Amino acid sequence: MTRKAFITRRMTFSAGHRLHNDALSAEENRRIYGKCNNVNGHGHNFTVEVTVAGEIDARTGMVFNLRDLKSVMAEIIEDGLDHKNLNLDVPAFQGVIPTAENIASVLWAMLARRLPEGALHEVKLIETENNFVTYRG
Ligand code: NI
Repeated sequence: MTRKAFITRRMTFSAGHRLHNDALSAEENRRIYGKCNNVNGHGHNFTVEVTVAGEIDARTGMVFNLRDLKSVMAEIIEDGLDHKNLNLDVPAFQGVIPTAENIASVLWAMLARRLPEGALHEVKLIETENNFVTYRG
């Protein structure tokens, strides 16, 4: 019998970004990204929900120790992204437009490297109350 469960931990961070593609004209960038193309950027209070999936271990009763997930997330999200300008301060976004989709994808790659193979199920990046992205590798 398999007893598969999904566990999720939430973490918030505040960061600035600018949506801009160097390969496009200034006019095209304004057309595509609107206010998010503002030269000096803008900020969000982001929420990230990281879901790890697996079987409930008979010995521990856990899928994955939430304390370990918390510490991996703290290192990647709090130390790596909180109070940063994503375009300028975070090496992972060099050459990557920091849209919500790309932030979720970059977070997935960072988390996947630190978690047991195949454990990561979903990264949800909530940018505003009404806009969020779900990324599943
Ligand atoms: Ni934005």
